[in-house]
Amino acid sequence: MNILDGRKISNQIKEEIAVEVAQIKERGEKVPHLAAVLVGNDGASLTYVGSKVRSCKKIGFESTLIHLPEETTEVALLRQVEDLNANPDIDGYIVQLPLPKHIDEEKVLMAVHPDKDVDGFHPANFGKMALGMETFIPATPFGIMELLRRYNIETEGKHTVVIGRSNIVGRPISILMSQKGKAANATVTVTHSRTKDLTEFTQKADIIVSALGSPDFLKADMVKEGVVIIDVGITRVPDETREKGYYLTGDVDFDQVAPKASYITPVPGGVGPMTIAMLLKNTLLARERHS
Ligand code: GUN
Repeated sequence: MNILDGRKISNQIKEEIAVEVAQIKERGEKVPHLAAVLVGNDGASLTYVGSKVRSCKKIGFESTLIHLPEETTEVALLRQVEDLNANPDIDGYIVQLPLPKHIDEEKVLMAVHPDKDVDGFHPANFGKMALGMETFIPATPFGIMELLRRYNIETEGKHTVVIGRSNIVGRPISILMSQKGKAANATVTVTHSRTKDLTEFTQKADIIVSALGSPDFLKADMVKEGVVIIDVGITRVPDETREKGYYLTGDVDFDQVAPKASYITPVPGGVGPMTIAMLLKNTLLARERHS
């Protein structure tokens, strides 16, 4: 069993980006500037956004966090989005999801200018991604692809089973892995909450990408020997004995499944850090596309 060390690879990518930022500075040019909009006080979102801002500082990007109260109206948020679209100093920005229930997520994501949409969630960018055109690839699937590439995981002709069909992970990773290219050319099956006999699919899978959000869901008897496991799930499980009052766990019962796997991502330290690294990569690309 080999660990797919997302923390290590994400640090490598961040170092590569930092070198480019240093060169940008040397040329006296404007450094990349990422903004993040967070509405409300969802614990996980606060952690993610905080981590994104810290990573920006570390590699020499400018960053702006716009933290709005839970009761922010849709109109006010859309105004904020328009301001960011119009602000020439901001190369790219994200609106952290989920948004409070009274705000129409689709409406907000549609309002983000595609050239600044470093999440790759706007239909124009998602469409380009699906067509294999150059665009911003959503950071989590982009991170998974990069992790597979850097570990030289053979995906060509392999049966990849994706669990989950979200717009952020399941759908885009299934498209990307079925396309031509490195870490791609796979035969992909998308499974979801209405799939009958999920285990029949997972037991035959060469690669499993699980983006379900159900702690320790995938057990040893559901996978075959030598499987490659990409665990995208990250759930806070309440635990009073821990300092934070919770611990993080993935969709995969790691202790059970790891001995059968050829490669496996840990949680935390697998896909999560890769997401942040690829968001930074997209911001660097956004700056290049604007200048
Ligand atoms: N919420 C969970 N993942 C993401 C992500 O990649 N981007 C944004 N904006 N929100 C998220």
